[in-house]
Amino acid sequence: MRVCEKVAEIRSVVRELRRSGPVAFVPTMGFFHEGHLTLMREARRRFPSVVVSIFVNPLQFGPAEDFAAYPRDLERDLRLARETGVDAVFAPARTEMYPERPCTFVDVERLTGVLCGRTRPGHFRGVATVVSKLFNIVQPDAAFFGQKDAQQLQVIRRLVEDLNFGLEIVAVPTVREADGLAMSSRNMYLSPGERRAATVLYRSLQVAREAILGGERDLSAVREGLAAQIAAEPLAQLEYAEILALPDLTPPHATDKELLLAVAARFGRARLIDNVTVTIGEKTET
Ligand code: PAJ
Repeated sequence: MRVCEKVAEIRSVVRELRRSGPVAFVPTMGFFHEGHLTLMREARRRFPSVVVSIFVNPLQFGPAEDFAAYPRDLERDLRLARETGVDAVFAPARTEMYPERPCTFVDVERLTGVLCGRTRPGHFRGVATVVSKLFNIVQPDAAFFGQKDAQQLQVIRRLVEDLNFGLEIVAVPTVREADGLAMSSRNMYLSPGERRAATVLYRSLQVAREAILGGERDLSAVREGLAAQIAAEPLAQLEYAEILALPDLTPPHATDKELLLAVAARFGRARLIDNVTVTIGEKTET
């Protein structure tokens, strides 16, 4: 496995890899868990070569957010990537990605005015900008993203379409702990009590999904039930509980077939998100 810190280096490694066929790319901020590794395995299964990036992108963290505290363990990440059969890792320093204060940013409108975009101003601008830079550096044929970050996934799909990046975006279902908690690097911030309380997110999402699949069409009532169930957990501070139509993240209408049920809440210092999708007319598992 090649480990590259420089843009020029990863470019030349990808040029070599491309000789054996299409290249898949998995962008990450490191501190790998089973969610990240599943993305890599899925990429490995479908493509002859896999490139992973590890970069905690300062541009997507707000001033009061956890950029400095965000967990990092490059040695462990490299070992896990190697064991998973990754061909190359791009792990640039901050100065390699941003040698100067940038003047150019990528803003994806509309899709970023809801959910996490409301409470994390500038977050998706930071994500869209760094992902555009990474796509330009690696120039992959496909890129793999987790359904766990459902809004990020839609933002990136739209970015790729609007700016003609010409690569396939592959979505991978959310990987969960045995009790349903979505895996996240931020779960390490949880105390044992908060860790138990955090299971309320997926539990309440499932209840809401079952209600819709059972024929309930009063989506505001379902949304209120979802919010109330999370708010009833003493260790949870609810940020939002929303039901939106996919893929545009607009308020749902009776004719919409694909719905996103998305929640965000704080448990102590951990801000956690989770979501499920519902296809009206059939049962889906996410
Ligand atoms: P990060 O949080 O490290 O996540 C990297 C990728 O792993 C994302 O596509 C995310 O959706 C996916 N992922 C995280 N937890 C998952 C889980 N439990 N199941 C399935 N997939 C999961 O998302 C980012 O980094 C950054 O915003 C990035 C796209 C790298 C841009 O900086």
